[in-house]
Amino acid sequence: MKDKFYLTTPIYYPSDKLHIGHAYCTVATDTIARYHRLKGEEVMFLTGTDEHGQKIEDKAKEAGVTPKQFVDDIVEGPRGVLDLWKLMNISNDRFIRTTDDYHEHSVQKIFKQLYDQGDIYKGKYVGKYCKPCESFWTESQLKDGKCPDCGREVQDAEEEAYFFRLSKYADRIQHLLEDTDFLQPRSRVHEMVNNFIKPGLEDLCVSRTSFTWGVPVDFDPGHVVYVWIDALSNYITALGYGNDKYHDYEKFWPADVHIVGKEIVRFHAIIWPAILMALDLPLPKRVFGHGWLLLDGGKMSKSKGNVVDPYLLSERYGVDALRFFLMRTFPFGSDGNFSNEALINTINVDLANDLGNLVSRTTAMVQKYFGGTLPAGCGKWAEPTQPDRELLELSAALRGKYAEAMDAYAPHKALEEVFKAIQRANKYIDENTPWTLAKDLEANGPRLAHVMYNLLECARICGVLLTPFMPGSMEKLFAQIGADAGVQTWESAGTWGLLPETAAVTKGENLFPRIDMEKELKELENLEKKPEEVKAPEAPKAEAKPAPAAPDYINIDDFSKVKFVTAKVLACEAVPKSSKLLRFTLDCGEGFPRQILSGIHEWYEPEELVGKTVVACTNLKPRKMMGIMSNGMLISAVKEEPDGTEKLHLVMLDDKVPAGYGLC
Ligand code: MSP
Repeated sequence: MKDKFYLTTPIYYPSDKLHIGHAYCTVATDTIARYHRLKGEEVMFLTGTDEHGQKIEDKAKEAGVTPKQFVDDIVEGPRGVLDLWKLMNISNDRFIRTTDDYHEHSVQKIFKQLYDQGDIYKGKYVGKYCKPCESFWTESQLKDGKCPDCGREVQDAEEEAYFFRLSKYADRIQHLLEDTDFLQPRSRVHEMVNNFIKPGLEDLCVSRTSFTWGVPVDFDPGHVVYVWIDALSNYITALGYGNDKYHDYEKFWPADVHIVGKEIVRFHAIIWPAILMALDLPLPKRVFGHGWLLLDGGKMSKSKGNVVDPYLLSERYGVDALRFFLMRTFPFGSDGNFSNEALINTINVDLANDLGNLVSRTTAMVQKYFGGTLPAGCGKWAEPTQPDRELLELSAALRGKYAEAMDAYAPHKALEEVFKAIQRANKYIDENTPWTLAKDLEANGPRLAHVMYNLLECARICGVLLTPFMPGSMEKLFAQIGADAGVQTWESAGTWGLLPETAAVTKGENLFPRIDMEKELKELENLEKKPEEVKAPEAPKAEAKPAPAAPDYINIDDFSKVKFVTAKVLACEAVPKSSKLLRFTLDCGEGFPRQILSGIHEWYEPEELVGKTVVACTNLKPRKMMGIMSNGMLISAVKEEPDGTEKLHLVMLDDKVPAGYGLC
C-alpha cells in the first residue's frame, strides 16, 4: 500500500485579489505536495477560500452586490483565485469554499456537538473589536490601545455570544507545543507559549450577532458562527467529516502538515488542536509556520497599496521562474524581502546562467559533435578522472540530501543542494574543454562522449529533483536531453547512469532566457504604480561629510525628535556578500515587521540574536545598503580600542519588555 500524505494551505480571504504573499504559501505547499507524489505517495493537497465574515459583508455592500456575488467574483471570476492557481500550476486535489453547503452543514453539526457537550457556552462579549482583522481583543491584549495584529483602531464591542472553553485545554496544548514536534520551526513555540499560554488562555468568542454573513447557529437564530470554527474545520469537512460529500476522512486524517503564515500560527497551534481535542479527534501531525514576504521591509497589504501581482510576474517571466524564485530565495521559516531586482537576479544567475547554460551548452555540443546521439558504451570510463569522480559522487548523493531538506520543510536548502551539482557540472565543462577534445574526434571521441554523457546524466538527476519546483520547464528539459518517463522517477534520481547512452538529444529553445535588468526594472516600475513612500530613497553618498559640529547641548524637543523603540528580533540573517551586515526583521509594535540592517556581524552570529529585545531608532531616513533597504538603525554601545578599532555591543533589554515601547 502506498504511503499517504495530506497537506493543506490556509484558506484565503477573498476580500481582495490575491497577491504574491498568498502565492508564496501556495507555491510552497504545491512544491511539497509534488515532492511527495514524486516519491510515489498518495497525496491529498487541499486549498480553498474562507468566505464569511464582516469584512466581506461590508465590502459587498460597498460594491452594491450580495456577499455571495462578491466572493464568487473573486474566487471564480476572471483572474480570480481559481484562475491564478491554474496559471501557477498548483496541483491541489481539492478546493473548498466555506460557503459550500456541505461545509456549512458540517460546521453546524460541529458547533452543536461542542455546545451539547458543554465545550461551547453562551455568555456576553465585552471588549474591543478590530474590523479589518475580524478579531476580538481584551483591553490587556491591545498594543497602545490598538489592534495588536495590524496596529489599527479598535471599536468597543458588547454582545451576547457563544464561547469555546479554550482555557480548559491550556495544559494539554502547552505540552503539545513544548514536548512534541507539532509546531515548526521550533522558534515559533516560544512565542506561542510565552505570549498566549503563559499569560492565561481565555475562552474564545465563537459566534456573532452583529452581522449575518456567516454559518447560522441553527439552534439560536441571530447568531452566526464566528470565523475560526468555520474556517479551521475546513481541514476535516473537505475530507467528508460531518457530511456525505466526500469519504476520505478515515483515509487522510490526521493531516501530515498544515502550512500556514506566521500570523495565523496561533489559530493553528492553539485553537485548532483545542477544537479537535474537544471533538476527540486526532491532531494534525505538524503545523509549519512560514515567514512573510515583505516589500521594502514592510508587510504587503492592499491598504498600503504595495501588493505585488503574481499574475503580472507569472505572465512576464513564466510561472516556473516565479515559483523557483519564491522557493530559492527565501528561507522558508523566515521573512524575506521581495524585490524586482532579486527576482530578475535569481532568474539570470540560477536559471539562465547555471541551469539554462548547462542544458543548452550540453545539448548543443551533443548535437554538434555527435549529431544528437552519443555512442553506445559512452557511460563507462575505465579510469575516471578526479572531476569525473566528483561530479558522479555529488550527483549520486544528491537525492538523499535533497530529501532531508524537503522533509524538514526547507525547500530552499533542497535547491541549494541541487544547484551545487549544477554548478559543479558547469565547472566540469570548463575542466574538460570539450571544444578542444572535439578538434581531434578520432583520438578523443570516446572521452568527449563520456564527458557529454556525464553532463546529461547530471542534468537528468537535477531535472527530476527540480520537477516539484518547476514542473513545466523540467518536461522541456527531459525532452531536450532525451530522458523518457522511466528515468524521470524518484527511484531513478537516486542512481547514476540510468539515462540510456544513446538517448536522442535535441537542442531546443532556451529554457530560461536572460533578462536585461536595467531595462526590465524600468518597465516594471511603470507597470506597478507604487505609492511614493515605498519607492527606494537614494542611498547617501559614501563620502558624505559628517554633519557640522553639534552644539554642546540639545534641548528636549531636539531629543524627542529621535524615535527610539523597543524591538523584538523576529529573524536575523547575514547579508550575502557582506562581511559586516546583518539583516534584522523586527517587531517594533507597529503591526508589521520592520527591516533594519546593522553592521555588527563581526560581533554577533545571527542565530544568537533571534528572540532578543533590542533598541531601534525608527525615524531615521531609510537607506539602501548592498541593495537592501534599511528602515532605521539599531542602537549599540561602542568602545574605541587604543589601536583605533571599535568594539560594538548591541543594546539589549530584559526580554520581558514588550516590543514597541518608546524610550525616554
Ligand atoms: N482566512 C485565513 C486563514 C484561515 S485557515 C483556516 C487567512 N487568510 S489570508 O488570506 O489572510 O491569508 C492566507 C495566508 O496567506 C496566510 O497564511 C498568510 O500568512 C499568507 N500571507 C498573506 N500575506 C503574506 C505575505 N506577504 N507573505 C507570506 N504569506 C502571506 O489568514
